[in-house]
Amino acid sequence: MRAMVPADNGTVGFAEVDDVSPAADEVVVEVAAYSMNRGETFQLERPRDDWRPGKDIAGRVVATVPDGPSVGTRVVAHLPHSGWAERVSVPVTQLAVLPDDVSFLEAAALPLAGLTALRLLRTAGSVIGRRILLTGASGGVGHYVTELAAAAGASVTAVVSSPARGERLLSIGAEALVYDVADAEGPFDLVLESVGGQSLPVALSKLAAGGQLIWFGEASRQPIELEFFSMFDGPENATIRHFHYTDGDDGADLATLVRLVGTDRLHPELGRIEDWSQTGAVLDALRNRRIRGNAVLTLSTEETVMKDPKSVVRDYVEAVAAGDLATIRASFAPDVVWTYPGDLPLSGEWKGRDTVVDEFLGAAAGSLFAPGEPVVITLTNLIADGDQVFAEWTAQATAQGGAAYDNKCGAVFTVRDGVIVAVREYLDTDHARRVLFPN
Ligand SMILES: NC(=O)c1ccc[n+]([C@@H]2O[C@H](COP(=O)([O-])OP(=O)(O)OC[C@H]3O[C@@H](n4cnc5c(N)ncnc54)[C@H](OP(=O)(O)O)[C@@H]3O)[C@@H](O)[C@H]2O)c1
Repeated sequence: MRAMVPADNGTVGFAEVDDVSPAADEVVVEVAAYSMNRGETFQLERPRDDWRPGKDIAGRVVATVPDGPSVGTRVVAHLPHSGWAERVSVPVTQLAVLPDDVSFLEAAALPLAGLTALRLLRTAGSVIGRRILLTGASGGVGHYVTELAAAAGASVTAVVSSPARGERLLSIGAEALVYDVADAEGPFDLVLESVGGQSLPVALSKLAAGGQLIWFGEASRQPIELEFFSMFDGPENATIRHFHYTDGDDGADLATLVRLVGTDRLHPELGRIEDWSQTGAVLDALRNRRIRGNAVLTLSTEETVMKDPKSVVRDYVEAVAAGDLATIRASFAPDVVWTYPGDLPLSGEWKGRDTVVDEFLGAAAGSLFAPGEPVVITLTNLIADGDQVFAEWTAQATAQGGAAYDNKCGAVFTVRDGVIVAVREYLDTDHARRVLFPN
């Protein structure tokens, strides 16, 4: 069977590997989708012999055991490793059955990040009415913690690197976003810290006396430095608790997560959905903080779904913000039409992918801004209805003449079969005229 195996420089590639040989308590699952986690990016840097990545999978049971779900049942599973493959063997204690209304994509995003969030909050105890500071909040764990804690009555302040990375957190219950942990307004009863480096000591200083900091990661890979005496300035007698998510009954906790999704109380944030041939590129995006929530990779079974229109547009705008030309180009249908408003030199219809990417977005729009100066695009809102998606974003840049361009833009994107076929853009054309076309 085919599987993803470790390759050079922390990435992965396809390989033929031995088919699964299940133990007496294991079912065989044909994998439809899998997710990836930051911890796996670390493990891939120094892979152990005979180890393959993959802890989060969803798929269909194709061989079973007396205590297992019947053949054909849709399941989600949490594995120790080796899940990025066509088939996996899963102990019956490590899986949960999926109801029809929970998709493979949503399910694949649940295991490690969802179990971590659930168990972090259990470790914290009751959070009703408590003030929580959550660092690294834009990732997979952060989205689940935010939604679960807010629903349980907590006030969550989320630390993210940009408004776009925090937008979804606000819609699932975060009370405040800050873009630097130093700006969080404490004191907090609980800090959930997973960035390390400078972040942990600053987050700790925001804790109320006697509060608790749960230390569950070090995404920055920077060790922390703490000063005993600084604790007297606020978090006196605080508890710092190390956390590892492995304590618990995986089958029961996966079933809880599935039930919450199925009853519309937990909403996996699928920041990127790609075919599994793109696993290497998605790993790179995860490492470089370009995935919001979870990334999900799909295998070509008849049930895997095409990327939904909202994700297509989100990925496109985020690719523009990141200058990721390959994703920008791949987002458009060959015959896309972009309609730019008003009576400016750019106004009118731009037809065809190459014209849109190279002439309109590239040469024509690009030449309006000062070379070497950043063009900052920030996605602020996304609304989807069928194949139409309305996106709002802000665009800030320096015009050729040195004037500040600062516009609020919106567009209706039409998405079919996973690509953008039409865009009708709206913006303040008067501001554009004054700043970009002063003559
Ligand atoms: N202890 C456990 O049992 C356990 C279990 C699961 C996960 N973890 C840890 O928990 C953390 C969150 O996991 P996850 O799967 O949600 O990860 P993730 O999706 O990669 O999210 C981590 C977030 O941290 C933020 N971040 C801030 N500074 C960073 C830096 N220097 N490098 C990279 N990211 C940085 C990023 O958000 P912005 O770009 O918006 O700042 C990123 O979205 C990770 O550190 C992971 O290793 C621990």
